[in-house]
Amino acid sequence: MQDLTPRKEDLDPIEIASRDEIAALQTTRLKWSLNHAYENVPHYRKSFDAAGVHPDDLKQLSDLSKFPFTVKSDLRDNYPFGMFAVPREKVARIHASSGTTGKPTVVGYTHNDISTWADVMARSIRASGTRPGDVVHVAYGYGLFTGGLGAHYGAERLGATVVPASGGMTARQVTLIEDFSAHTIMVTPSYMLSILDEYRAQGIDPRKSPLQVGIFGAEPWTNAMRAEIEDAFDMHAVDIYGLSEVMGPGVANECVETKDGLHIWEDHFYPEIIDPETGDVLPDGEKGELVFTSLTKEAFPIIRYRTRDLTRLLPGTARTMRRMEKITGRSDDMMILRGVNVFPTQIEEQILTVKSLAPHFQIELTSEGRMDAMTVHVEMLSADTGDALRVAACRQLCDRIKDVIGVTVRVNATPPGGIARSQGKAVRIVDHRQKG
Ligand code: DLL
Repeated sequence: MQDLTPRKEDLDPIEIASRDEIAALQTTRLKWSLNHAYENVPHYRKSFDAAGVHPDDLKQLSDLSKFPFTVKSDLRDNYPFGMFAVPREKVARIHASSGTTGKPTVVGYTHNDISTWADVMARSIRASGTRPGDVVHVAYGYGLFTGGLGAHYGAERLGATVVPASGGMTARQVTLIEDFSAHTIMVTPSYMLSILDEYRAQGIDPRKSPLQVGIFGAEPWTNAMRAEIEDAFDMHAVDIYGLSEVMGPGVANECVETKDGLHIWEDHFYPEIIDPETGDVLPDGEKGELVFTSLTKEAFPIIRYRTRDLTRLLPGTARTMRRMEKITGRSDDMMILRGVNVFPTQIEEQILTVKSLAPHFQIELTSEGRMDAMTVHVEMLSADTGDALRVAACRQLCDRIKDVIGVTVRVNATPPGGIARSQGKAVRIVDHRQKG
């Protein structure tokens, strides 16, 4: 793999500013953001008043802990535009995430917001090892989802040549990557695995592909998956994080030279980690739920938004801005099996230790009497493995999950192609448990 470390002089100065400079900028911007939300969004005025706090109570960054949290249902209760802080005519774009139930979560951007988003995305893409003039193939979905357009505007802002492929038509993705000589691909890690399968199906050696960088996010993935993809394509695989409510992709990104967690672009997004049970703010280094406050957003300021994502904050390395550890999972993706907490990423890690298994998997939850049972459906790597090998692979995965995670599961290994593919975020958990 090539050394793609960006040159220091190409970084935004704030990326490597002193912690004091960053904190000073955050304090000024946080005061503005709290005031902007309080003055212009009835929901925030009501919730701050109910908690007995006023934006003027924020004297230093730690005072933010006095302010109330915002949760997803607040957004739903104010559907569609009730959380906007500018008149609708000043909103230049709307995105929405569908979620699993009911109405979508709607977010809005002014022209300035879209420009800020393009800036942080350009910064993310540069941190990943991409330079102006490189061909960037965007296979995140275009549409209401923030992935495609977020990546697109960022790559353009950086000065790259953008190919807006969007998701789907996997055979064509391979053709475009090869024919246009894509240097960078931006896509969910699970869809990248489908693209890898397609390379093999077309008889093209993925290690000879023009790809040098993959910017993967929108769903949890492990370092074991990183190693798998980097080895298969002989390319760098870096992690990008974001969520619609806070902006979209580009809230945090790994640096290609370190790949040691995602630097949060702290000049625009202020992170906290809280204990999900008590809501108390935890010190850096402790694991808990990630909470974000926007510092510069105009149309849709968001104050102390509970992401449900579980991680911890770490000091800066390649940049002075703090890092968040790769996300283990969401609190609502956590399965509790006979008292043991299990995340899909833990299953992924174990699957990748069994050589004869492919990294496509889905977890099925069922009820057996009053107990919950878990079946891991996973694919064999090769179509022509006999029954004995298949049984041995299942046994091996079962044992590894029991030894490392501590739960007993059933494993069902299907032939290649047996697990439904998604063209965006993978569906990892199928819940067939009886309710009530
Ligand atoms: O997934 C934005 C995005 C697009 C991020 C493309 C990265 C790349 P939402 O659809 O609102 O936005 O979903 C946000 O996805 O709260 C996490 O649970 C999950 N997520 C996003 N990035 C990562 C990541 C986009 N790198 C939700 N690792 C978030 C783990 C991620 N989970």
